[in-house]
Amino acid sequence: MKFESTLIEQLRQAQRIVFFTGAGVSQESGIPTFRDGPSSIWQHFDPEIYATVLGFDNNPSKVWEWYWDRRQAFKALEPNAAHHVIAAWQEKAENVTVITQNIDGFHQRAGNQSVIELHGSLAMDKCRVHGHYSKHDVNSTSRTQPSCAECGSLLRPDVVWFGEALPDEAYDQAEIACFNCEVFICIGCSMDVYPAADLPYNASASGAYLIQVNPNPTDLDEMADCNLQGNAGVVMPALWQAVWGNTY
Ligand code: APR
Repeated sequence: MKFESTLIEQLRQAQRIVFFTGAGVSQESGIPTFRDGPSSIWQHFDPEIYATVLGFDNNPSKVWEWYWDRRQAFKALEPNAAHHVIAAWQEKAENVTVITQNIDGFHQRAGNQSVIELHGSLAMDKCRVHGHYSKHDVNSTSRTQPSCAECGSLLRPDVVWFGEALPDEAYDQAEIACFNCEVFICIGCSMDVYPAADLPYNASASGAYLIQVNPNPTDLDEMADCNLQGNAGVVMPALWQAVWGNTY
């Protein structure tokens, strides 16, 4: 792949970098995206049922079991080359922050230290009534929905559903990272879901050099300083090679 010299120079110089990721960064690990093509999740499953509080209240065990199956499937999958390149960047810049909409924990598994999870995480549960948090038992072999140890109400995964607010602290930290970064790289995001989709615009308005990695067009194309068209697992290792002259 050929990359513009301005892009290479920006990446060599930058000490404060944000990687902003969506479902596309995990697609090559084997996790389908949400709204991108015939195999995507919301083509097959109704988000009103599986990603709203009302859907959960109508049929909590159905929702719990759906996420249980996803958790089981994720256990067999691994971070891909794009996750590993993002983790390796920590050796090259003083401040590397990952802001992700993903709930799969793959950035942490790849070795990133600073990961802001805007849409929660499958690693945690919380109870429906009081929001008491508990670590999800990854070794559980039962699909049966557990109850909260503190109050007895039903547990749900600690993920952000449609109509719910993003965790305040995570969003505040994400905004600060956007305002402070020199380079912002948006990877595998459809830019359809707000408020997360505001972040690249905030970063760009604060002077960051904005890079997008995506095989398909998005609303960010016009604003981006550089659009790298392709799959993250291909583009990111090629970009690393072009910037640092070796393999990640
Ligand atoms: N590499 C890079 N990008 C890819 C790849 C790939 N291999 N494959 C697909 N993409 C791109 C698609 O072109 C699309 O723009 O990733 C994007 C995936 O879009 P969505 O499925 O909408 O995922 P995302 O933007 O993360 O969705 C945001 O929506 O349902 C909610 O909570 C869910 O966090 C999710 C949010």
